[in-house]
Amino acid sequence: MKLPQELNQAAEEYRNWIGNYLPIGREIIYLSQDDVKSIPLAPEKIRDLVEQSLIAYSAKKVDMPSKIALHPLTDTFFHAMPAYVPELFAAGIKWGSCFPENRRQFGFPQAQGLIIYNDQLSGMPLAVMDCKYITEIRTAAVTYTAIKYLAPQDAETFGMIGCGVEGRQHIKNIVTVLPNLRTIYVYDIFEAAADSLIADLGPGIGASIVKAASYEELVKNSQVIASATIAKEGYDPVIKDAWIGPGKTILLCEGHTLYEDRIFKRADKYIVDSREQVEQFVSYGYYPFGHPAIHAETGEVAAGKATGRENAGDLIVGNNFGMAVEDMFVVRAVFDYAVEHGVGIKLPL
Ligand SMILES: NC(=O)c1ccc[n+]([C@@H]2O[C@H](COP(=O)([O-])OP(=O)(O)OC[C@H]3O[C@@H](n4cnc5c(N)ncnc54)[C@H](O)[C@@H]3O)[C@@H](O)[C@H]2O)c1
Repeated sequence: MKLPQELNQAAEEYRNWIGNYLPIGREIIYLSQDDVKSIPLAPEKIRDLVEQSLIAYSAKKVDMPSKIALHPLTDTFFHAMPAYVPELFAAGIKWGSCFPENRRQFGFPQAQGLIIYNDQLSGMPLAVMDCKYITEIRTAAVTYTAIKYLAPQDAETFGMIGCGVEGRQHIKNIVTVLPNLRTIYVYDIFEAAADSLIADLGPGIGASIVKAASYEELVKNSQVIASATIAKEGYDPVIKDAWIGPGKTILLCEGHTLYEDRIFKRADKYIVDSREQVEQFVSYGYYPFGHPAIHAETGEVAAGKATGRENAGDLIVGNNFGMAVEDMFVVRAVFDYAVEHGVGIKLPL
């Protein structure tokens, strides 16, 4: 994809603006995780950027090849995630990984990685930054976008399976997208993760958080269910079709891992972030029974080009495995603030 000619001047202006703060081609900015976290990005702004990114992807306004993956051990992956967004003059790549045994084996988080942000006019790197926090906030924002279009807007119950980094971030601002929420059910196979989530986020969240005793309790009681646990290659579902009544909205961050396949096959609408990536993930073995017919991409629904929730009784599944373009929209905002305000350290190239 090429920069449209009419944007040439604006692209040069952006580059000149960066040049006021950073000698492009001689230095880069390095942003640690704390640096990235210190940048004031309001939750509504993140939600907005991420929704725009989904829309831009589905409208084919960005260059984003599917992830390139390495799978060194069972259930682990590295993903190379490049994206170019002409309208933002933003290009770069995330090199992210997920190693689910990290907490137990090494005391590290499951997901981590780095992002390189480039000058799209010369190709020179402008910044290297930690990707963990950006991944965290943009992933929750994808779920929030899906909730906006797929869930009953007056839902009073939400269930979060997995109480780690993503689970916490999902719950933090959930009442902004589901304002009538009364009860949030949480479940984690590592009970301490659920306990500390409740202790840390419970006060002041705007709804009561209840630790579910089982998947069944959470699933049966929640109108909207999100999960962020472990992306697994095999098939060992713990959530049974019989527990899924009408009207549920099921939102997945880790593919089909937890659910019986029949649930997806009988869903009234099955919506994904990227058709192309779903096909690619089939080839990696994530969907041993294939994927259901895809109703639309999340960005098509957000753009009003495809329908979201129409009937209260519909079972709707949103499978958003994550896209580089979501990162890139947030990265541009993070970089712009950092370069202008002197956040991070400058390193010679
Ligand atoms: N879709 C996306 O864009 C996207 C982005 C980032 C992460 N993810 C995925 O989200 C998942 C969670 O990432 P994270 O950074 O929050 O990891 P994390 O390790 O911080 O949290 C995962 C939590 O899930 C719990 N868990 C594991 N298996 C479970 C199970 N079967 N049932 C209930 N709880 C279970 C763990 O005990 C842990 O507390 C990973 O699979 C990751 O690949 C997806």
